[in-house]
Amino acid sequence: MDGASIARLVLRLAHAIAAVTWLGGGMYYALALRPQLAGAGDEAKALAARAQRAFVRWAFWATVVLIVTGIALMYDRLNAGGGTVVYVIILAVKVIAAAGAFFLTGIFTERRTKIRAITSAGRGRASVERHQRRIERAWMLVGLGMVAFVLGIALSSIYPTGVGH
Ligand code: HEM
Repeated sequence: MDGASIARLVLRLAHAIAAVTWLGGGMYYALALRPQLAGAGDEAKALAARAQRAFVRWAFWATVVLIVTGIALMYDRLNAGGGTVVYVIILAVKVIAAAGAFFLTGIFTERRTKIRAITSAGRGRASVERHQRRIERAWMLVGLGMVAFVLGIALSSIYPTGVGH
């Protein structure tokens, strides 16, 4: 394997590890943690908020790695002449889905606000509605991330990379 192939492999592995970290955390939040908070007391909410705060750091760096390695992979593929019209369309849908998912996390804009919102969720109708909206948002976020994930796997399967050959 030459240097360029090793670099491509490292980029792909970094992208894949960041994707698993990002999506895995999102799924755990939407499937397990969030539903448990519906009728939970203040102590449980505070614990969940601390857990979220701890994960936000990992999610932030996973997002940075996804963007940096994603742009490098994209540049490499298009530069090598591998960008057919279908490839570019699928990639565009994937990048838009990923951008939507990143936007919904609010990771670059409201990291602290979101955590505060979880801890201070009071009682009453307004708080139930807020809770409901956050659940929907969590599902949209995971759904868009899943689209980006599946399209990434589809692209690298339909258009083999040649790494290792
Ligand atoms: C939620 C965010 C994202 C997830 C879950 C995700 C997931 C994945 C996965 C699983 C792969 C397949 C890796 C492989 O087997 O080689 C992949 C490939 C790729 N991703 Fe992402 N990705 C995300 C965001 C991005 C972003 C933001 C970009 C671009 C700026 C990007 C660009 C690419 C490119 C160019 C490939 C390689 C496609 C090819 O084989 O030509 N991804 N992605």
